Amino acid sequence: MKWLIILVLGIVIALTILAALPFASGHAEDEAAPIFGVKIPAGYRDWRLISVAHEEGTLNDLRAILGNDVAITASREGKLPFPDGTIIARLAWSYDPLEESSKAFGRLQSFVAGPPKNGIQFMVKDSRPIRLDRRLGLRSI
Ligand code: HEM
Repeated sequence: MKWLIILVLGIVIALTILAALPFASGHAEDEAAPIFGVKIPAGYRDWRLISVAHEEGTLNDLRAILGNDVAITASREGKLPFPDGTIIARLAWSYDPLEESSKAFGRLQSFVAGPPKNGIQFMVKDSRPIRLDRRLGLRSI
């Protein structure tokens, strides 16, 4: 009987860990970055466009740089340094040749955004001093 209880408990624990794996491997939307505690800001997909770029080489992506209202207002007013609360986002997609266009031109001509790639990154302006030792839960020696 005791062995049966241990076996059932073991299976329950294993299933709990397996169920949590998909969330542990990626960054869930409400998961904070480990050191600075930055969370994916709500509504960032509606932010305004600052610029676009293309990375060659192994990155090979198309990227868009977006800014929240604080970032856009400050940059238009030329307000430097950027105020606290400024957030800049970098999104990236695979840089894919457009097949129809390649056929029509007989060479690579047009490129479009494919699936999202290389994660999303946020840069947050926060002038408060950080205590990395506290963030990491370290004690002073
Ligand atoms: C015109 C826009 C941008 C271009 C062309 C660009 C380009 C690059 C390149 C070439 C790297 C090195 C990647 C590597 O060697 O693996 C890099 C790294 C990085 N960039 Fe950007 N970047 C841009 C905008 C941004 C923005 C707006 C942010 C933050 C919001 C950002 C955050 C980072 C971070 C955190 C890394 C280090 C990533 C890592 O090592 O895993 N970048 N970027």
